[in-house]
This record gives sequence, C-alpha cells and structure tokens, in this order.
Amino acid sequence: MANDSMLEFGDGFVWGSATASYQVEGAWNEAGKGESIWDRFAADPAHIEDRRDGRVACDHYHRYGTDLALMASLGLRNYRFSIAWPRIVPGGDGEVNEAGLDFYDRLIDAMLERGIRPFATLFHWDLPQALQERGGWANRTTVDAYVRYADVVVRRLGDRVKDWMTHNEPWVYSFCGHLYGVHAPGLKDLPTALAVAHNLLLSHGRAVPVIRAGSPGARVGLVNNLEWIEPASDRAEDVAAARRWDGAFNRWFHDPIFGKGYPEDLLAWYGAAAPKVETGDLEAMAAPTDFLGVNYYTRRLIAHDPAEVAGSGRNFLAAKQIYWPFVPRAEFDEWEIAPEGLYRTLLRLQRDYHPASLLVTENGTTWPDQPGPDLAIHDLLRVRYLARHAAAVHQAIADGADVRGYFAWSFLDNFEWGFGFSKRFGLVHVDYATQLRTVKDSGLWYGRLAREHAFPLADANAIL
Ligand code: FCB
Repeated sequence: MANDSMLEFGDGFVWGSATASYQVEGAWNEAGKGESIWDRFAADPAHIEDRRDGRVACDHYHRYGTDLALMASLGLRNYRFSIAWPRIVPGGDGEVNEAGLDFYDRLIDAMLERGIRPFATLFHWDLPQALQERGGWANRTTVDAYVRYADVVVRRLGDRVKDWMTHNEPWVYSFCGHLYGVHAPGLKDLPTALAVAHNLLLSHGRAVPVIRAGSPGARVGLVNNLEWIEPASDRAEDVAAARRWDGAFNRWFHDPIFGKGYPEDLLAWYGAAAPKVETGDLEAMAAPTDFLGVNYYTRRLIAHDPAEVAGSGRNFLAAKQIYWPFVPRAEFDEWEIAPEGLYRTLLRLQRDYHPASLLVTENGTTWPDQPGPDLAIHDLLRVRYLARHAAAVHQAIADGADVRGYFAWSFLDNFEWGFGFSKRFGLVHVDYATQLRTVKDSGLWYGRLAREHAFPLADANAIL
C-alpha cells in the first residue's frame, strides 16, 4: 500500500467517543442522587493522586447541551456514555428517583436533536454506596438489584436508546477495586475480587433478556478490557506465566460469556479462592449478545516471578510485567503504545469466540496537554496514537475481524479515577478552573476521520 493512500472504512462504520458518568458529570448530590462508592472513596484525598474528587468534574450534568453541540460540530455522531445508578435508585434497590431518569431523558433527547446516536453503559463503576454497605458486588443480592435497575432504566429510555452495554470492564472493577485496592471500594482480597467478577458476569447475562424486553430491537453487549499478553522470553516458565496472566485478565472474562465456562487452568490455579458457581450461573452468563465491546490500551510482556509481595497476596499469578527500554510508553508508565496488540486482539477474539460483532468501545492515550502560546493544543502524539490504532482496526477488518465501530476515549479530559485530574485522555481539553473546553488537534483530526470515513495512511506512518 502506497504511503499516500487512504485507509477507507465503510459508511456504516461507527465512529464515536466515550465518557462515563462519575468521570464527567459532577452534580454529585443533585436532584436526589444517592452517594456512590466513588463519591465515598474519592472523599479521602489519600486515595487520589492529585487529592481531588469528582464532585464537579467536567460539570457535564449542567453543560451537556453545549458539550453535545461541540461533539456534533466535530462530526462525532455516536456517543458512549454511562448512567449513574445512584441517580436512578439512590438506595441501590429501593425507591426510584424520577428526577434521575428525567436527567437522562433530557440528555438523550439532546443527543437525538443533534443527530448523535446514544450508546448507553448501565454500570461504569459508580455503585450506590448503600449496596456496598451490604457487601457490594461480592454479595449475590446485588445481582438482583442491578437487574431491577437495568429494567427501570431500559423501560424509560429504551424507546430511544437501542445500543446497550451492561457493564464496563468487569476485570478492572473487580481487581483494581477488590484486590489492588486502588479503586473504590478499596479492598484487597483475592476471593472477594473473584466473587465480584462472578457476580458481574452473572448480572450481565441476567440483564440481557431484560434489556431486550424493555427495548425492542436493541443491540446488547458487554464491554471488556483486553490486553495483548506476550511472554518476556521463550523460557517455559515465562511462557507459562504469560498464559496465566492472559487467563486471569482475558480468558476469565470471555470464556464464560461465550459459553465455555471458566478456564480450567485458572480454576486449578485459584483453588479455594475460586468463586462459588451455582446451578444455572454459567448458562445465564452465556446469554447471546449482539456485540462484544473491546477496550484496548496496551500490550504487556510477562515474566515468571515467584516472589510474593510480603503478605499482600498481590502476586497471585507468580508473574510480573517487564519493560523493554526500546518500546514507547504512554504517560501511564506501565502502558506500552502497541497498536499491533489491538490488531492481534481483534483477530483473536474473532477466532476464539465468534462474537456476533465487535466494537472497539475505548481506545486512547494520556499526555500532559497544555494550550500553547496560540492557545491551541498540538497533541501530535495523540493524533499518531489514534491513527495507528485506527490503522490496526482497518487491518483487522481486512483480515477477517467483524469490527463495526470504534470509540475514542475520551471526548473530554476528565476525572481519571485514582489519578484524579492529573491524566488527560480527551479529544477536547478541559480547563477545570473555568470549565473552558478547547478542541485539541486530535479532536480535529478524529472529527475529520468520523466525517470522511477515511484517513491518510501517512498519518499513521509518520515518525513523530
Ligand atoms: C478504562 C476505563 C475508563 C478510563 C480509561 C482510561 O479502564 O474504562 O473509564 O478511565 O480506562
């Protein structure tokens, strides 16, 4: 392919951008909203790198009209957002807060008025704190509470929203929040993390038919995060360690939802820590879906490492990530910039699981962007990142992966969980002191791609 050629995507290919409720909305206690586990967790400044919280965030709750107008003006006609459960059912499983539903009603109508297609995620980590008091997702009754919440939301919004995502990244939610302790609710216990993961996958499967019933003709899927895992060397013990890592972080969250049950090698490795599986759980998890959402950011090189980190239980795979000095990394130190990993991941999902279709539901990078003297933000690094990953998607489609869309993370700079506002992933820069939005060069570049459904290969190939 000549370097001046265009990479073309079909007109039907979905180009969009994504956010999540706690990261952008703010308005943490308005209009009857209940407390979420992220409100509670971030209230302790020791938990957040810049010691800030998401009470105001991007104030998207009040500024959604102008934010959506900006989105439409860029040509971004697909928006993946999430619904905050504590706005809808503040106590988790009690009374429904009509004012919370009204907000999303307005948000969705505002999208439709601007020609933007809504893609709604039902759970992007902001669990009602009231449910956490009863064990949160480690308690099976949360599955029932979630299915009821999903039913309430979908019956109200499902006439206009036809693309539903049950959960965002069950791996991150269960492990970062319940083993590593760096996300809400800040626990550090492997059996708890595995119980949480089990209940998330179970609730996904249980919610699928409920969503279909409440939103006729809807497309429903789960969003998982995947990393491309490679052994750090050809040594048998590194190969085995990489297989465990891939098993724990990738296969564990895909095998059951595609009807294969939990991976045997990992069940044996976990032993008594493995979750309790009740009759019918695995069948429920495997409910047929319309797409698999893929969040992809990085590749990891994995080596064998028998050293236990004193009493922490964290090295539960006897494995560690290693870094080659010649591989570029993002501002998140442990994230290699590895578009080939996205290409390989998409083909692997197609081959191993035959999903009804694939959507890249998140992909992007963080960089300390600041306006230059001309007040513009020349984030060439992000332009290259997006171009290379879009090229990887293009190649994956050419080689047989049924990818129907791609969402850049994120539309706006926002509250990046344990990193607070210290990490910027947006196509649009946010000045948190004034809430001023400035479209970055990457936003302009990506908007053009979304409008033209094509971009020059040279944008992906150019050396920075
Ligand atoms: C993903 C999350 C998303 C965002 C990106 C950077 O794990 O789904 O909310 O924080 O990482």
